Amino acid sequence: MSSSEKGPISREIYTERLLRYIYDWLVLGFNMKYLWRCPTKSVLLPFFKENFSANHLDCGVATGYFPAACLEGSGGSKPDEEQNQRLALLDFNPNCLRATERAILSRAGGRRCRPIDIERVEADVTAPLSATLQHAKFRSISMFNLLHCVPGGAAHKLQSFRTLGRVLEPEGGVLVGCTVLGEEYAARWWLSRLAVRHMNRVGMFHNLDDNREDIEKALGDAFEDVQTWLVGMTLLFKARKPRANL
Ligand SMILES: C[S@@+](CC[C@H](N)C(=O)[O-])C[C@H]1O[C@@H](n2cnc3c(N)ncnc32)[C@H](O)[C@@H]1O
Repeated sequence: MSSSEKGPISREIYTERLLRYIYDWLVLGFNMKYLWRCPTKSVLLPFFKENFSANHLDCGVATGYFPAACLEGSGGSKPDEEQNQRLALLDFNPNCLRATERAILSRAGGRRCRPIDIERVEADVTAPLSATLQHAKFRSISMFNLLHCVPGGAAHKLQSFRTLGRVLEPEGGVLVGCTVLGEEYAARWWLSRLAVRHMNRVGMFHNLDDNREDIEKALGDAFEDVQTWLVGMTLLFKARKPRANL
């Protein structure tokens, strides 16, 4: 890629090398536990697993740690489900899409293996839906650790709730996610405060002013049923019943 084609650092940072050797232990291991105070293994992974279905869309994938962990050894979403696994992966970085597909194919499998249909969608989550997705409906959608990376302010990035609401099954569908909030939520932890400022200064994060109220409001505008929880400085959210006027 030439320098004139380069995108924001929050996209360029995800090189093959970072994804292969560094991302999982640094971002999901160290950062989630010690900086954002919301451990991956005890909080985020169980939350993802509870809401993963046989017809799932994962947005902002990086290494595919979460969907790969759900599918590990089963080749399908849940042992009691007979249907094939449909898994759409949406990301604006093709390295992340490739790394995730690789992780899923290498970790899923085993004797009870069911076919997994993986669809890669190279797209920006803040843009209108691509033709591939426009008429799709998913039973579950995830957006873990995505919004704090997206530049452009709350109004811009939170419109993705409306976009994703259009492709969620109206009855029984669930959208889940988590995002690190802005510096006011780091008041009690000096290391977290320094880290969130640093991440914003270098352009990896765009969340200095992100707050719970804006996110709850945007979720409520797009869905009838919304729940949020704060764990450390990370907001977890779950929404059902997309509004009819999306
Ligand atoms: C911090 S990683 C989170 C990955 C994974 N969900 C997790 O929790 O480990 C953010 C991911 O979102 C992608 N991403 C960031 N901004 C995006 C955007 N506007 N549209 C689509 N993908 C985006 C990045 O390429 C990266 O794969």
